[in-house]
Amino acid sequence: MKVMVLGGGGREHAVVHAFSKSKITTGLHCCPGNPGIAKLAECHAGDPCNPAEMTGLCKKLGIELVFAGPEAPLVAGTADALRDAGILVMGPGASGARLEGSKAFSKQFMKRHGIPTSDFDLCTNLDECKAALSKRSAPFVVKADGLAAGKGAFLPDTFDEAVSICRMMLEEQKLGAAGNLIVVEDYVPGMEMTVLAFTDGKTVRILPSSQDHKRALDGDKGNNTGGMGAYSPVPWVDEKLIKKITDEILTPTVNGLKEDGIPFIGVIYAGIMIKPDGSLSVLEYNVRLGDPEAQVVLPAFGGDFGEVVSACAAGRLADAEWPGAARVALGVVMASGGYPGTFEKGLEITGADEEEENTFVYHAGTKKDAQGKLVTNGGRVLTVVGIADDLKTARDRAYARVAKISFDKCHFRNDIGDKSLKAK
Ligand code: GLY
Repeated sequence: MKVMVLGGGGREHAVVHAFSKSKITTGLHCCPGNPGIAKLAECHAGDPCNPAEMTGLCKKLGIELVFAGPEAPLVAGTADALRDAGILVMGPGASGARLEGSKAFSKQFMKRHGIPTSDFDLCTNLDECKAALSKRSAPFVVKADGLAAGKGAFLPDTFDEAVSICRMMLEEQKLGAAGNLIVVEDYVPGMEMTVLAFTDGKTVRILPSSQDHKRALDGDKGNNTGGMGAYSPVPWVDEKLIKKITDEILTPTVNGLKEDGIPFIGVIYAGIMIKPDGSLSVLEYNVRLGDPEAQVVLPAFGGDFGEVVSACAAGRLADAEWPGAARVALGVVMASGGYPGTFEKGLEITGADEEEENTFVYHAGTKKDAQGKLVTNGGRVLTVVGIADDLKTARDRAYARVAKISFDKCHFRNDIGDKSLKAK
């Protein structure tokens, strides 16, 4: 099939890489892509959030299957327009994308369908926020309803800090329309994991489990980021837990979407907390693969990615061969100094281009400068992945590869996977 991947980050590089190894792929395109992706696919300038433009581009190229990487094009209705044009798409339409595009919608959806999640209040003014916060104790959880490029969730330690965050959104309008409605919810302690599943609206299939490392610094310290590293599969996630997650979360989600008349073909990302008593709580839904989770889950997956995506997009997921994890992958994000705050761009990157067995360097915030040199162009610059039969070797391979790459002010965590390795 002629395949188009929408997006240009590390996750999309992993998706393009997985398609490049699939026996269904006869042509591989990406919009807009990045310098790493450009080695595997033909990259096209364009705006994935413009449904008409994407439909025109895909029609012109004879694309048969589109994989939507990020959430924004899905919320914008790009998948609807492509499907209307007769193209297979992995990614829900705008109605299904609300599971990620509106935190209020997703909390109400979970409540309506008996899917475990923490209690919450929806607030449209500061008095409502203060009342909702007064019912709870630290750490508080405050979220913007709309999409905020990963910057809309807060865990303030004090009541006053929580109120200032609400004021920043509601009155100072720092997150624009995304912050006009606020979700205040109970904090859930426990162990966090990511479950990525495919659904064609009827069947649900789970990809290998993964764990992200969201804080900027070692030991889960520092600010929340989009993710500083991940590994897959998670050794303590066993069949019993997967069955519980399927029965209590994934199947009710697919059934709930059906009951609500929301068509959904694509990825369900459930951020799950396993509470100290073993019960589950959904922290959030996303309607796409995680980043950096995709960079480890796809190399760990033992199946043919193109085959399972095309079967899912065509509504035939039940027929797809689905073998589960065949390897262990661990990824370390190399970020710009200062991320997730302000950072410099345009710094030369060396050592990222060499090919090495059992490692892979996924590009995210990179670009070629006017002289053709690879330079930094974003907060998360690269995800460096080690692949092996066991977590320790995957970790050692990833960090050995990281040591050969450099750019000024580079920052990465040194403890990706350590908790699971120590627990073992
Ligand atoms: N790594 C978290 C996310 O993709 O949302």
